[in-house]
Amino acid sequence: MKFTFENSTRVHFGEGQIKQVGNDIPKDKKVLVLFGGGSIKNNGVYDQVTAALADHQWGEFGGIEANPQYDTLMKAVELIRAEGYDYLLAVGGGSVVDGSKFVSAAVAFQGDPWDILAKGASTPTVMPIGCVLTLPATGSESNPASVVSRGNSKLAFFDPRVRPAFAVLDPQTTLSLSPRQVSNGVVDAFVHVIEQYLTVNHNAKVQDRFSEGLLLTLVEEGPKALTNPDDMEVRSNVMWAATMALNGLIGAGVPQDWTTHMIGHELTGHYGVDHGRSLTIMLPAVMKQRRDQKGDKIVQLGERVFDINSGSRDERIDATIEAVVAFFKQMEVPTTLADVELGDDAIVKVLASLAEHGREGMSEHGDVGPTELAQMLELAR
Ligand code: NZQ
Ligand code: ZN
Repeated sequence: MKFTFENSTRVHFGEGQIKQVGNDIPKDKKVLVLFGGGSIKNNGVYDQVTAALADHQWGEFGGIEANPQYDTLMKAVELIRAEGYDYLLAVGGGSVVDGSKFVSAAVAFQGDPWDILAKGASTPTVMPIGCVLTLPATGSESNPASVVSRGNSKLAFFDPRVRPAFAVLDPQTTLSLSPRQVSNGVVDAFVHVIEQYLTVNHNAKVQDRFSEGLLLTLVEEGPKALTNPDDMEVRSNVMWAATMALNGLIGAGVPQDWTTHMIGHELTGHYGVDHGRSLTIMLPAVMKQRRDQKGDKIVQLGERVFDINSGSRDERIDATIEAVVAFFKQMEVPTTLADVELGDDAIVKVLASLAEHGREGMSEHGDVGPTELAQMLELAR
């Protein structure tokens, strides 16, 4: 095992922590507050943020959509270039945080900033970012990743410099989420853990045990977030689990396999399937197609997370895949393409798009390409 681990995001967790925003952003910075379609104006978060910024000079940019669009984000870039802001405060879900990261990188970029995503181009400098997270799901609040869409293309970039300097996680802000968004968040976090865990046995005990702890937490608390939506302890556990699921800790030094996410991004890009739902449609199929390569880890997942302790290896693998599907059903999310009314046409289009985006040599073995992707999509029918 060999890795360098760093996570420099300062996390303020708990009720009433939004006021920390005013302390963490230097008073001489002119702040641009970025947000989404308006949920923060209806749940009191906007008011708390503006109170926290009472001693700052600040402006705002609203309207960042779910699966943030390049064209929208470029309007924020133009605003910053015109009005001279020097600190970004993202207030919202993963889309707002991701969008703000892109804006942070795009402002100083010479040329078409889409190249940061499409060609991995590097930007000379970035703007500092802080965030107030209102939807536990993506882990974007303390990681270096950002996913942005342009038309049907949904692409990611990674730059440690856009990792937020601080993140406020107040579980109270999540009480206004719809059940659908609560579910989407829980299953997204679940799949993040799976894609860093469900590979080959690496004898990375710390990463494995942390991963299993997060999976157990999500499997136990996720359904409660739907049945007891006002339970703040449940909300808190879900929120912290989602952050820990993709903050670099459990993935340090271990093989990873982001195939489910890569196919999921195409389903979102072409058909607008919610991000979390795109993953619950694909993960069972990916597990089925990779049952040989991932067998040892699937059995371990079954034993340690779903209490599957008997039967032959094949039976245990089947039972574990069924347990994952049952968990997704409990979270009221789709588990097949048919569940979202997609079929032949979608399979053809998604495969073409995966090829166009160069998705070959994926998985921990580097052996998932067009043939395997086609089998996975067939299994997801
Ligand atoms: O836009 P507003 O009005 O804020 O409404 C949002 C949006 O409609 C709403 N919402 C958020 N917080 C709320 C709320 N509604 C009521 N109360 C609240 N407290 O929820 C809707 C969805 O928000 P969005 O930010 O899109 O959801 P999520 O956090 O799931 O983010 C999804 C995006 O993150 C990307 C996804 O691809 C997708 O674009 N991802 C980013 C990752 C990363 N940076 O590491 C990793 C992930 O795998 C993922 O790919
Ligand atoms: Zn995700």
